[in-house]
Amino acid sequence: MLTEVTATRYITPLREGGSLPGLIEADDLGTYVLKFTGAGQGRKTLVAEVVCGELARRLGLRVPRLVTVALDPVLGLGEPDQEVQELLKSSGGTNLGMAFLSGALGFDPLAFEVSPEEAGRIVWFDALVNNVDRSWRNPNLLRLRGELWLIDHGATMIWHHNWPGAANSAARPYDASDHALKPFAPDVAAAAAELAPQVTAELLAEVTAEIPDVWLTGEPGFDAPDELRRAYVRPLLARAATVHQRIHGLEGDQ
Ligand SMILES: Nc1ncnc2c1ncn2[C@@H]1O[C@H](COP(=O)(O)OP(=O)(O)O)[C@@H](O)[C@H]1O
Ligand SMILES: [Mg+2]
Repeated sequence: MLTEVTATRYITPLREGGSLPGLIEADDLGTYVLKFTGAGQGRKTLVAEVVCGELARRLGLRVPRLVTVALDPVLGLGEPDQEVQELLKSSGGTNLGMAFLSGALGFDPLAFEVSPEEAGRIVWFDALVNNVDRSWRNPNLLRLRGELWLIDHGATMIWHHNWPGAANSAARPYDASDHALKPFAPDVAAAAAELAPQVTAELLAEVTAEIPDVWLTGEPGFDAPDELRRAYVRPLLARAATVHQRIHGLEGDQ
């Protein structure tokens, strides 16, 4: 279970990406980037953050700590920005928080070296979860004290938007031609050899157990949250062994 905190103050919106996450303070005195359950794609985005963030962490990649954030919509009453007020009002209950990395910089591929090994691990992971949001235009990578951190896994696992077609969609290749780490000669073969054997049914069960029940209820075709958790496990398990053979668009690859 992710730790639950309660939002005590809305600080400011973060306007870089599209979803307008908010910077908040919580009752544990932590500062978090809040992803709203009432935003755009709603709770599926939050489920994706949990599954991918907790999986990446267990594979040794750096992801800021995740928590669930209880939000009282009353926090929005004093917000002058209409859009922010709407988000807060429509997001009562359980939201997702990511520890705010104070002082982190956005990743700049021209100003920072990444080893082929690390680039390979990240590209391989993105291929596994089918992350379409790690392009050079929008890397969703932060740099802090010389280290890379992964954020924003909302646009992954496209198959969870259409469960009946999930097996087919999960069999599709991964296009890495726009990937932010493409210039660093990612060694995906080495990454696959190291990471694929770690992506077991047990590990994925542990990861999906972290998804709050409230984001899993009411999905058409599923009777219980655990049934939907198992549906999240299957495509990832199926992809892990061979996805490295289906990564297209890297140098030297046709
Ligand atoms: N944990 C974090 N620590 C520091 N800054 C963050 C963190 N998470 C997000 N940000 C900043 O907020 C921006 C928007 O967050 P992101 O998760 O990418 O959402 P979206 O792209 O959907 O708007 C990021 O590009 C980054 O600049
Ligand atoms: Mg983003």
